[in-house]
Amino acid sequence: MKGKIDLYVGSVTFAGFIALLAASRTQRTDLLDPIMIAVLVGLACLAQRVPVFLFRSSAISVSFAAVIKDRDEHIKFQVADLPMYPRLAVLDPESTRTLPPQLAAATGMDAMTHAIEGHVSSEWNPHASAYALGALRLIRDNLEQAVAHPEDDDARGNMLIASNLAIQPTSSGAIGIAHSLSHPCGAYYDVPHGVANAINLPWVIEFNAAGGEPIADRYREINELFGLEVGGPGDQVGHALAEHVRGIVTQLGLPTRLSEVGVPEEGIPQLVEGAEGDGCTLVNPREATAEDFAELYRKAL
Ligand SMILES: [Fe+2]
Repeated sequence: MKGKIDLYVGSVTFAGFIALLAASRTQRTDLLDPIMIAVLVGLACLAQRVPVFLFRSSAISVSFAAVIKDRDEHIKFQVADLPMYPRLAVLDPESTRTLPPQLAAATGMDAMTHAIEGHVSSEWNPHASAYALGALRLIRDNLEQAVAHPEDDDARGNMLIASNLAIQPTSSGAIGIAHSLSHPCGAYYDVPHGVANAINLPWVIEFNAAGGEPIADRYREINELFGLEVGGPGDQVGHALAEHVRGIVTQLGLPTRLSEVGVPEEGIPQLVEGAEGDGCTLVNPREATAEDFAELYRKAL
């Protein structure tokens, strides 16, 4: 880890140096501000051993966890420890401007998944809830704009903040089985994490919201935030939110079916095994059996 951090810091400094050199030769003084920031931050980090993470995608880099993909064993697992928290994160919308739209959309949906799962998890707590709902407001107001108009720095910046807020519930253990379903999809079939979450999340919302009034009430708070129906039984509340999420996924141009991203029906037994063993399963608000996981995969297929 130390070597990786050093590499990161060294890269920041080196990139800043090269860019500064290029700017001086091309008279592009407009490049100097971000470059100088990179140089100064890099030098400061070299001097103080402060880890720096520049956001381009998911906010996992500002949590205390990292996800490791074992290609031989076909598993994605988390390692987490407090020293892995960075002391500094740079949220620079300029750095995301050239992100391909599909990647921007997928990482935005990952942020939404973290926020929704964080708000309904069995590990719910007031802090996690505040972060999750704050993130969802920003996602509601900025995700589609940020993807459709990459030149909109406000929208991009707000999504960086949303992503940063959305990961915080995960750091207190508040997450759920959309992630449990998605990790094996990535491990076995290389489905990008955010794409898998975008597909699986609506089905998990419907499954969880039908699991009792206390769980449904959490979803009611999210529905209210999105201006959706909050009354009626839990399955109705869940369906309203799930349909809304499906609409966003479609609008963003992301796949809505696992079969579209290379997951075959015969792969479901292996995927179920992976989902059952995933750490996120432990904190889902509704207990999910092997048959529940198989049914969720079949629905998402
Ligand atoms: Fe995630």
